[in-house]
Amino acid sequence: MALIELQGVVKRFDERAVLAGVNLSVNEGDVKVVMGPSGCGKSTLLRCINRLVEPTSGSIRFRGQEVTGPDVDVRALRQGIGFVFQQFALYRHLSVLDNVTLALRKLRGLSRAEADARALHELDRLGLAGQRDQYPAQISGGQKQRVALARALAMDPAVVFFDEPTSALDPLMSREVAALINTLFRDKVTVLCVTHDLALAQEISNRVVFLDQGVVRAEDTVEQLSRHHEDARVREFFRREGSPP
Ligand SMILES: Nc1ncnc2c1ncn2[C@@H]1O[C@H](COP(=O)(O)OP(=O)(O)OP(=O)(O)O)[C@@H](O)[C@H]1O
Ligand SMILES: [Mg+2]
Repeated sequence: MALIELQGVVKRFDERAVLAGVNLSVNEGDVKVVMGPSGCGKSTLLRCINRLVEPTSGSIRFRGQEVTGPDVDVRALRQGIGFVFQQFALYRHLSVLDNVTLALRKLRGLSRAEADARALHELDRLGLAGQRDQYPAQISGGQKQRVALARALAMDPAVVFFDEPTSALDPLMSREVAALINTLFRDKVTVLCVTHDLALAQEISNRVVFLDQGVVRAEDTVEQLSRHHEDARVREFFRREGSPP
């Protein structure tokens, strides 16, 4: 059984269908990458799955359960999905440690000591134990990204979503994020990552899903997509994205 299964997912904003019938499945242990032109609906897709956005129609199953519709426990759903955003979304007035413990205490009801222990375990694993008492303004972009990931992992989610995890980072930091996602793969953490960054995509996964004009147009290796795909639009996207800047 797939961990996440989308069938015919449609999302309209006003009259415009941003998602026009998306089919996609993510299995446990997958690192799945979704690429596509700016505005093609990548962020909307992730946000539909955890119900930050209400899909217009179609089916989304998470661990076999339908997550669309009014009777769903959205809070429980979101606890199963860690979300790492492009802009990190850290609380500026909280230390690194407290950024990671906040949801453990407020949502999970852990005591401060329990939350601290769990958070420190994740911070240590991501090489951030020395930054525990610093504030977001005092650490680098790559470190912020790792704090955001530590916060997501501390909740022990079934899957971690990344939305453009490298777009606010310089190339060196971007490679660090790729390395980090590869350690998640080794730890069998399921990942769904949307990105513009073809280098990132190739470093973390050998297949890429191409989302375009509201549908999944292809899923294959970048090599196949850029050289051999029958649709010129697909070949062009992966060539352009793959060419040096
Ligand atoms: N709340 C909203 N109301 C109206 N239109 C929206 C809303 N959210 C997104 N859209 C539109 O839906 C389209 C897809 O947006 P989305 O952010 O999902 O694209 P994206 O693929 O993530 O783009 P990017 O690569 O630039 O991040 C865009 O045209 C956007 O303007
Ligand atoms: Mg986006």
